[in-house]
Amino acid sequence: MKVCVFGASGYVGTSVYKLLQEDSAIEVSGTFLNDPPLYDDLEKLDINEAESFSEYYKREQPDVVVWSVMDGPQEHELTDRGLMHLITHLTPQTKLIYISSDFVYSAGNGPYKEEDPLSTLADDHLISNYVNAKVKAERFITNELSNYVILRAGPVYGENQIGALDEQTDKLSYHLRSGRTIAFRDDLIRTFVHVEELAGIIAEMVRNDVTGVFNTGSEDNQSYYEFMRATAKKLGYNPDHVEKESEYEEADCEIPKNTSLITDKIAELMKRKSG
Ligand SMILES: NC(=O)c1ccc[n+]([C@@H]2O[C@H](COP(=O)([O-])OP(=O)(O)OC[C@H]3O[C@@H](n4cnc5c(N)ncnc54)[C@H](OP(=O)(O)O)[C@@H]3O)[C@@H](O)[C@H]2O)c1
Repeated sequence: MKVCVFGASGYVGTSVYKLLQEDSAIEVSGTFLNDPPLYDDLEKLDINEAESFSEYYKREQPDVVVWSVMDGPQEHELTDRGLMHLITHLTPQTKLIYISSDFVYSAGNGPYKEEDPLSTLADDHLISNYVNAKVKAERFITNELSNYVILRAGPVYGENQIGALDEQTDKLSYHLRSGRTIAFRDDLIRTFVHVEELAGIIAEMVRNDVTGVFNTGSEDNQSYYEFMRATAKKLGYNPDHVEKESEYEEADCEIPKNTSLITDKIAELMKRKSG
């Protein structure tokens, strides 16, 4: 089976790429954008460039494609161009595994189940580019394709296959190591997912003929403050050095409050597969 991981040198993509490489039944290829690549065998590709994308895709002819691409402020371009290029090349036999975000529930009244309606943010909102591009991408995929998996993830954390940490834990460790306190919001409720757990779910989706939309992550929902206190303790630091951050925010910067996810569907599926 041929699998292509777009974004294979990113935080999540690295783990997915490495995990799939360990499976002798899978021939995996991957792309990066900015030098240097993490692995020598990755191919440099700007997914938004129609010609080079088409040339790459026709050469690879994958059975499964993993979308682990992200570009914050340019996320719209990724959806309007990159994802569009991909969708026009996919045949019904090729499966797309798209990593989406809990921010598609930007109304912030979670916890959410897969069937709940998605919502966009006003165009002038600080994070509308990312949020609205993800919502648009999901709508494209569900309208145009049938052979797909959409995996919605909250904040991804932990050490990936090459020992890189997520930004928040990295920031936490840096502050606590140097004896300083650090503050996190207690009103932002999320379902955190470990990078290796997410990579494992993606690998499972590659190997199996499952399709559909799945929320991912643990069954516990926590605020950033609670989660980071627990992380500090796990890392051997004094959790009391993690403080509550001010909840004041300007209207156009208001972060969705509760985007936590009900993850029973994926938990049940993974239990069935491992049992
Ligand atoms: N991290 C989280 O907490 C989180 C939470 C929810 C959902 N997600 C989703 O998980 C997926 C992976 O996120 P991540 O945290 O691994 O992001 P990341 O570390 O920023 O990695 C993004 C990857 O996308 C590549 N890329 C960006 N623009 C590109 C373009 N125009 N053409 C080709 N490649 C391009 C980057 O290439 P270079 O490395 O070469 O620059 C990188 O490999 C994304 O779909 C994201 O929306 C992440």
